[in-house]
Amino acid sequence: MERTLDWDHGVVVTVDQSLLPQRHRRLRLGSVDELIDAITRLAIRGAPALGAAGALGVALSAHTHRHGGRCDEAAVRRDAERLTAARPTAVNLAWGVRRALTRLADGPDAVLDEARLVLSEDETANLAAAQRAAALIRRLCPDRPLRLLTHCHTGRLATVAHGTALGAIRELAGAGRVLEVLAGETRPLLQGARLTSWELAEAGIAYRLCVDSAGPAAIVSGAVDCVVVGADRVAANGDTANKIGTLSVALAARHAGIPLVVVAPRSTIDPAAAHGGDIPVEERDPHEVTHFAGRPVAPPGARVFNPAFDVTPASLITAVVTEDGVFPGHAESGVGQP
Ligand code: MRU
Repeated sequence: MERTLDWDHGVVVTVDQSLLPQRHRRLRLGSVDELIDAITRLAIRGAPALGAAGALGVALSAHTHRHGGRCDEAAVRRDAERLTAARPTAVNLAWGVRRALTRLADGPDAVLDEARLVLSEDETANLAAAQRAAALIRRLCPDRPLRLLTHCHTGRLATVAHGTALGAIRELAGAGRVLEVLAGETRPLLQGARLTSWELAEAGIAYRLCVDSAGPAAIVSGAVDCVVVGADRVAANGDTANKIGTLSVALAARHAGIPLVVVAPRSTIDPAAAHGGDIPVEERDPHEVTHFAGRPVAPPGARVFNPAFDVTPASLITAVVTEDGVFPGHAESGVGQP
């Protein structure tokens, strides 16, 4: 499978996710400033992809500030801080930056080696997590083609390759177990409309776009067998931050008595966050809500509440599945290890 991000002779190459599906534009990012700009305007997005971008960003900085076999460590650490601050919620970004920094004293080539390791680990971790999650969902919902609901975008573009929740959906579809996917996040960023539907169509999986406020209604009416989503940060107790709107489908899933499975690589787990209250939630530009496709849709001066994420309590989550199995915070949920 083609990688979403990679290193190519001193530049970071990726696809501009902000333009899909209308335009498929490759980006070649040759400086930390360009990479930070790509992250903040969501050309690169999705927690695992941000982890890879963070690691590659440090490699980019180490090569920019190289003096022979060494680099100006203070300058690279300054860039690392700016990279980490580019988006606050997905813990993978800071994690990827930290991973690459572990080799700073060994020089720019060692930093690049570490960043490349982060990329290849992300590929294998996501595939393993997706396969484990698919096995778990098959066990939780046996003997029938499934009607799944997912929220935001968790496909190959949100990771280095394979995807997380969408990877699990692809695995289930490969086994003939998917009847239909309802895909949410149709406002304000349209990651479900623009990206999830694009990847589902690419994989030949039947789907319908689901207006965000209709997700809970679909679940409570019995039209969904299982909710499967990704994560931007999982706290030590299993509370999970994901795209705004996840909490409302989680509440509906609990009300309807259907499982909600979170799929994420271990790099999305933040042991330093004891619970969801410790997770910083990014608030985004009011313009994303007051305007649509560049045109105003709210009165001038309208005040806006535009959090990019919400936190679903662990008690509403059936399982957080990583490459290693069910995350310990959910070991008591009774689902066992897939
Ligand atoms: O604001 P975004 O588009 O970066 O939000 C992304 C999500 O919420 C995803 O669901 C999450 O990062 C999981 S990606 C495999």
